[in-house]
Amino acid sequence: MYYIGIDLGTSAVKLLLMEGSGRIANVVSREYPLYFPHPGWSEQKPEDWFAQTMEGLKELLTGFDAKQVAGISFGGQMHGLVILDDQDRVIRPAILWNDGRTTEENDYLNQVIGKEKLSEYTANISFTGFTASKILWVKNKEPENFARIAKIMLPKDYLAYRLTGVHCTDVSDASGMLLFDVKNRCWSQEMCRICGVKEGWLARVYESYETVGTVLPQIAQQLGLSDGVKVAAGAGDNAAAAVGTGTVGEGQCNISLGTSGTIFISSEKFGVDQNNALHAFAHADGHYHLMGCMLSAASCNKWWMDDILGTSDYGKEQAQIEKLGENHVYFLPYLMGERSPHNDPDARGTFIGMTMDTTRADMTQAVLEGVAFALRDSFEVARSLGISIERTKICGGGAKSPLWKKIIANVMNIKVDVPESEEGPGYGGAILAAVACGEYASVAEAAEKLVKVVDTVEPDPELAAKYEARYAQFKQIYPAVKALFPKLK
Ligand code: XUL
Repeated sequence: MYYIGIDLGTSAVKLLLMEGSGRIANVVSREYPLYFPHPGWSEQKPEDWFAQTMEGLKELLTGFDAKQVAGISFGGQMHGLVILDDQDRVIRPAILWNDGRTTEENDYLNQVIGKEKLSEYTANISFTGFTASKILWVKNKEPENFARIAKIMLPKDYLAYRLTGVHCTDVSDASGMLLFDVKNRCWSQEMCRICGVKEGWLARVYESYETVGTVLPQIAQQLGLSDGVKVAAGAGDNAAAAVGTGTVGEGQCNISLGTSGTIFISSEKFGVDQNNALHAFAHADGHYHLMGCMLSAASCNKWWMDDILGTSDYGKEQAQIEKLGENHVYFLPYLMGERSPHNDPDARGTFIGMTMDTTRADMTQAVLEGVAFALRDSFEVARSLGISIERTKICGGGAKSPLWKKIIANVMNIKVDVPESEEGPGYGGAILAAVACGEYASVAEAAEKLVKVVDTVEPDPELAAKYEARYAQFKQIYPAVKALFPKLK
């Protein structure tokens, strides 16, 4: 049998066809536009997601027996606000995870309702990218749209709804709404009241590996699927990526280098970072995780290569980099503001330290290093909680670069285990579908049987020491320039 994982990303939807044995039979990808209607705003059209997913599914199944597909599931970009009216029409473009418009509403939640109460109700505090502050933003700034709301959903749940007609979500993605009581895995009545969310707007919450319904007959017909193909709830992209890299159970770590950059630590027990710098969310394996999220990771490199240097040959640019650990140029990767650990929507990208002999390669290197240093910031928060991490998995587009993996291993001074496929969320989605269909007894069993590590990048003590000194310098830059950012508008 086949299982399909749909990774609903920010730059594209990636679709993955997995055999029951775990072998990846096909992967295709379809892009859609990302809109920045104002600096710091970020939107996409849910209809584009669905249209490209359908086109992608047709392409994915070309040359394969679609009748052998048993299940479908998802890893989806988290936190995005999708609102539908009572005729199931999308009311406005989705407001995405990296959107920073909700400063006022975010301050209201954190300061007027108070971080303590938020943490008591949800295990988290508010960030501009989380869904709750966006609901308040629509309520305050677009009351005519707010008055039309009949359903609220997250990005991948919109796809599940279009494929099955079932309004559903899963515990890992619901965790990022700030409407969810993470510890008890249910909606928080208090938070719904605070945000003006009416009963019936939110979906039933499932575990990620549970079946929510079957593919609607008209969709099955368009795709050539059999009747009754199961759809599992799926997970937020980071939890799905964790499943896809075998980051399940106690104390495992995964780094995702996608549009965002995350460091994900799985745990069998519920736990909260007392300062809420790391998110405390439910995991797709039935347990929990802590996570730090930077808003621009591989997207910094993409911006630097595509938009600034005007090249698509990333390998050629990286081949010029020779002096690891000795770069005098630093880059703050805050192109969309920053979430973990600074929680600062006003923060901006910054190059510092150039001299007349600075080269193009030094600048490219600074971008790759800046992302690694910023990930280390979240890693340090985890360490301060007494969590010891000696190795991590890695996935996402950025993980294709051997140089970037080497930089990460040495900046963090940990071993980086490279799974066979860097398609974390897509592979994780397919695994969740396989578990829902009974091919594997649990997410842990599937991950253990299917995920293979094919390489380990070990830190080199000399280089790690050089990076330790560079990180000490990097850490001083943001506090030194922070006060300027709000004035740069
Ligand atoms: C996680 C987060 C991002 C998005 C990216 O909290 O905001 O990783 O899920 O797709």
